[in-house]
Amino acid sequence: MTPTSPVTDTASTGGLSRFMDRRSFIRTSVHTGAAAGLVLSTSKTAVAQATDPNRKLKCALVGCGAQGNAIRIASKDVPGMQWVAVADIWEFNRRPTARRMQYENKHQVDGAVAEYATIEEMLEKQKDIEAVFIATPDFLHAPFSRIALEAGKAVYCEKMMSNTIEGAKDMVKAWQQTGGIFQIGHQRHSNPRYLNFRDNIVKKADMMGRITHCYGQWNRGVSASQPLGIPKNQSIPQDLLSKYGFASMEEFMNWRWYAKYGGGPISDLGAHQIDMFNWTFESTPVSLFATGGIDYYDGTDGKAKFELPDNVMCLYEYKLAGGTTRAYYQVLTTTGSQGFYEKYMGVKGSVVISESPSFNDAYAEPGSDWTKWSEGETPFIVKPSNAIKNKFWEQSRDWDKPKAPSYTLVSKADARESKGLSPWSLAATLDRPPHAPHVQNFVEAATMKKHEHLNCNVVEAYKGCVTVLKAYESIKTGQKYIFTPEDFAV
Ligand SMILES: NC(=O)c1ccc[n+]([C@@H]2O[C@H](COP(=O)([O-])OP(=O)(O)OC[C@H]3O[C@@H](n4cnc5c(N)ncnc54)[C@H](O)[C@@H]3O)[C@@H](O)[C@H]2O)c1
Repeated sequence: MTPTSPVTDTASTGGLSRFMDRRSFIRTSVHTGAAAGLVLSTSKTAVAQATDPNRKLKCALVGCGAQGNAIRIASKDVPGMQWVAVADIWEFNRRPTARRMQYENKHQVDGAVAEYATIEEMLEKQKDIEAVFIATPDFLHAPFSRIALEAGKAVYCEKMMSNTIEGAKDMVKAWQQTGGIFQIGHQRHSNPRYLNFRDNIVKKADMMGRITHCYGQWNRGVSASQPLGIPKNQSIPQDLLSKYGFASMEEFMNWRWYAKYGGGPISDLGAHQIDMFNWTFESTPVSLFATGGIDYYDGTDGKAKFELPDNVMCLYEYKLAGGTTRAYYQVLTTTGSQGFYEKYMGVKGSVVISESPSFNDAYAEPGSDWTKWSEGETPFIVKPSNAIKNKFWEQSRDWDKPKAPSYTLVSKADARESKGLSPWSLAATLDRPPHAPHVQNFVEAATMKKHEHLNCNVVEAYKGCVTVLKAYESIKTGQKYIFTPEDFAV
């Protein structure tokens, strides 16, 4: 396939490819944000270690669907990178993505973006590619990462690592064998809101005291789970589909519904949040009990048909320094109730956080005075906006205490009821596309050739993948699954 013609513009914007190690990077970013007000965020200009400012990592995207384009959009906010090629077997997705990239490259001296149908052809023909982003269906992550790593490319591969533990294990092995730069797309690892939560609120200040429990959910209503139709006259030739294991165009479109291509909602959505339990505690669970099934999507009455459980509930136990911490997670695809968020509950207070900025709250228990953590140049929390008083899950007090609605007994609280909690908001916000800091972290690591700079390397991500996918074993046996250290090792 011939590269599309280059769009050239000699008025290059120049790059800001100067980097620092992760700790100093976060420190500088938080400082920069605080100086500007309460927005503490990773900044695309907050880089220190001098390298060539005009250096641009030559990147290729494999898989130009919804997530491939989310990465493309995020990349517009990331210095030091440039798209040079895309590969996708579906021209319907590939062509517009390549054209958009080319348009967005317009200030590059050579802004050409070549199009290929397959990753094999792309790597064979275009040798200038330095880094490959993989955003294909999950079952292709393992073979495609291996091909790219073996070709000497740095790799950013989307979550879930794989639809099988064997596939994920092979990805770790591929990295061990090649020693390349290999990031997995759990973007919360680079999100300043999550970093502020873990590194400042939990670890540095110990504001919440011992976290005995946490909870996460991703609820999605039936309207968001309908099968996708095939756009008119846009089918892929069956021989090309078959080459990559797709039985039909219908299965290709709806790969998430099939066990051979994806891992079901617990993997698709739980991948992000269960991984955050491990990340926050810097640990892995010792046990898991899961229950789930096809509660709704059984193919009857015009409903779609799931092969994997549409609703799953999991209970994890962690053994942490302070004792046992239990984590409950649910993914429901039959109700949108309360959306998606995680909640951490400690003896001195709770935090509710999500990739969605509408969940960004902290509540101090009576007796916990958090005021000092809201002061200074880099506060960890800030006084909340009035909106917090409408949050349903806590009865707040202090400055935001709402007038007691007539339907509660706030003014006559039962002696056994907890007193209201002091509401706060987390100070750090993300004022960039949600994937931008993670893509930037990868571009920095690939440019510096420093695997240790990555915020979510393949070995760490593997532990999250095992934590999630073992839910199926518990569902199948109806038994608690006891993890062993070997489960998390490759
Ligand atoms: N990090 C996140 O927040 C996030 C969000 C959504 C999806 N994802 C992940 O991104 C990946 C893609 O998800 P999506 O929602 O974009 O799916 P999608 O179906 O919208 O896109 C997949 C793309 O891959 C292409 N493709 C399929 N087989 C291919 C092959 N053999 N070679 C090249 N291209 C091929 C398809 O044509 C399509 O363009 C999944 O692994 C998913 O879990 C991550």
